[in-house]
Amino acid sequence: MSIHKEQVKSALSYVMHPEFEKDLISLDLIQDLITQEKFVSFTLELPRKNDALAAHLKKACVAAIHKYVDSEAVMDITVGINISRQKELEGKEPEAPEQQAPQQNPVLSGVKHVIAVASGKGGVGKSTVAANLAVALSQAGAKVGLLDTDIYGPSVPTLFGVKERPNITTQKKLVPIYKHGVHLVSMGFLVDTDQAMVWRGPMVTSAVKQFMQEVEWGELDYLILDLPPGTGDIQLTIVQTVPLTGAVIVSTPQVVALDDVRKGVAMFQKVNVPVLGVIENMAYFTPEDMPEKKYYIFGKHGARKLAQKLEVPFLGEIPLREQIRETSDSGTPVVEASPTSVSAIGFKEIANRIHQSLAMLDQETGKSKKIEINIRP
Ligand SMILES: Nc1ncnc2c1ncn2[C@@H]1O[C@H](COP(=O)(O)OP(=O)(O)OP(=O)(O)O)[C@@H](O)[C@H]1O
Ligand SMILES: [Mg+2]
Repeated sequence: MSIHKEQVKSALSYVMHPEFEKDLISLDLIQDLITQEKFVSFTLELPRKNDALAAHLKKACVAAIHKYVDSEAVMDITVGINISRQKELEGKEPEAPEQQAPQQNPVLSGVKHVIAVASGKGGVGKSTVAANLAVALSQAGAKVGLLDTDIYGPSVPTLFGVKERPNITTQKKLVPIYKHGVHLVSMGFLVDTDQAMVWRGPMVTSAVKQFMQEVEWGELDYLILDLPPGTGDIQLTIVQTVPLTGAVIVSTPQVVALDDVRKGVAMFQKVNVPVLGVIENMAYFTPEDMPEKKYYIFGKHGARKLAQKLEVPFLGEIPLREQIRETSDSGTPVVEASPTSVSAIGFKEIANRIHQSLAMLDQETGKSKKIEINIRP
């Protein structure tokens, strides 16, 4: 029988927090609870770091679920630190920010901006865009990482021509593979795709959580996230798990793709992630031997017009070109393989707009994360 969230909550209401002398449910310390069949995943949110207490509570949660819900339940429990709860729970003001981890997720504290590349519809060129934006930002002088979260169809190994497996540090952290100026991590480096096909949603999202916590990302100006296509539960959980700065949505100009752009914009707005804009891919076709011609085979300016209608920025368009597909298939993104081509210039212009809009966002939020880059066509 499939485990229900209510059963889990009921079991966790037997687990007492030794300091506050109340149970974890009454204290509202259980977040992001997901259940599926015998799999249970949640975040235990503590107001400050305390490894011994976290280990004790995790053990108690596992025991309670095995006792009261299902002795065969499989659990993934993440411990999160939320210092904003310190005052409420402990009656103390949170400590000054310098003494605390700089971000809610200390593991990504070295990353200035996390940008999700999403699409409502599959196959619109999201991975191609994510790869080329990452390379363009790196060429301009930024330190860039790219995380491929698409477990069912990872693209980064092909797009960057990576065949090797990543190294693991003595602290058991995964070291991203560095290629074409970008620090890369992909589900495809670690998991056999055929094996991954049977993974269920919660397993995917817990793997993504691990990529946030167990990868040696180091200092990065940008971490680009290539999301799986769609706006379902998996995507929603990923965007809630990762501390995103903003999201870009990729679409082709057809009406069928545009309908899904609305869903993408709505998903990010729902979780309060700023939509940095929409990118129109395969905007028009230009034959290699007639570079002045533009054939709008999927319709003209569809994504551009929709962006206006939805009142989100339009970030630019990328033509449909054989060269883009060829360079992607051969493991060198077009921005690297042919930096002065029309396609590469399109990606660089978009990278520049994203950089500018994040700088504006930082100004609005009063955060100073100055990143000096120089994007040259
Ligand atoms: N502008 C373009 N011109 C030519 N080919 C392109 C262009 N953009 C993407 N492609 C090709 O289209 C195919 C799909 O692209 P890609 O894998 O980037 O899409 P995706 O949205 O990430 O797909 P999925 O939804 O499966 O993750 C690839 O073969 C890619 O090389
Ligand atoms: Mg993809």
